Amino acid sequence: MEKDLQAIVAQAEASLQSIASRADWEQAKASVLGPNGALTQAAKGIADLPKEEKPAFGQALNQAKGRIEELFGNALAALDERADLESLGEKVDPTLPSTCSLNGGTHPLTDVRRRIVSIFRKIGFTVAEATEVETEWFCFDALNTPEDHPARDAQDTLFFPPDSQWSNVSRKGKEAHVLRTHTSSVQIRSLLVESPPLRIIAPGRCFRRDTVDATHSANFHQTEGLYVDRKVTVRDLKGVLDYFLKELFGNKLETRLRPSFFPFTEPSFEVDLKGPNLGKLSDRWIEIMGCGMVDPEVLRLVDLDPAEWTGFAFGLGIERVAMILHGIDDIRHFYQNDQRFLAQFSSGS
Ligand code: DAH
Repeated sequence: MEKDLQAIVAQAEASLQSIASRADWEQAKASVLGPNGALTQAAKGIADLPKEEKPAFGQALNQAKGRIEELFGNALAALDERADLESLGEKVDPTLPSTCSLNGGTHPLTDVRRRIVSIFRKIGFTVAEATEVETEWFCFDALNTPEDHPARDAQDTLFFPPDSQWSNVSRKGKEAHVLRTHTSSVQIRSLLVESPPLRIIAPGRCFRRDTVDATHSANFHQTEGLYVDRKVTVRDLKGVLDYFLKELFGNKLETRLRPSFFPFTEPSFEVDLKGPNLGKLSDRWIEIMGCGMVDPEVLRLVDLDPAEWTGFAFGLGIERVAMILHGIDDIRHFYQNDQRFLAQFSSGS
């Protein structure tokens, strides 16, 4: 009888090797433990046994039942695990794009630069570029900024050592190389290679030895503009800048020119603006950019006759525009690459 029990256990074990589903498992279990199952039938045999053999058989029966239940329990756990993996396998399609939601986007400074450029393109300006490494002559002298001008102070300007080699940056004489402190030097580079009439917009990176705080960065961006033609007047300057600023900040914008001073323009102005779309700044005049009529001395330095040619120039900080447009109160946000900041601007492009 005990041999029979062992055979039932072995048979149960063998039948579990080939089960592929929960239904197979149920069927296998019924064939051993169900009402007509092998073990149930074997247990009935106890009735026919002599009394003295009954306890030993009962014990063997319990053992066999325990072992069989263990086998079925393990088989069920293995089946569930396999089903879990399979259902997971159905959900994970390695060919699909990842669910990570950090889409690439345009940096707010790039976005603002593009907007500025596209506004000027519509009225015939073309983009001019020059190197970020400049020479003192292009950055200062040619812009009528004399040697003793505070802008040339070593405190503001980053100079290269005298023996630095910059074969791609032409010099006027033996002057020092610097990191350009403004994009105004592109005015000179352009006037030396292109004859007027000339309309350029020159966005780019600038550098100053500024202490970094909420409104200053040692590395920042500007856009320069220059228009040289015959008979250009302050009225043209005002017309172009009004058009530009309204395109950027909305039609209800008011602008004003306030007298100022720059060595390379005469007269020079600061442009202020006031308008309903400027958030917290809506109720006051805010300074946005510098501009003026190109100083005759600048034209002379690039061999243009100021009696024939006149022009206007302007320069504005891209960070400043972005801060006003988006209500950003600290320039350092632009350079920290914090996704929480950048994600607010990403158009997903
Ligand atoms: N270069 C000036 C600066 O960095 C900005 C500027 C002012 C540019 C007046 C101009 C201009 O072209 O006409 O502060």
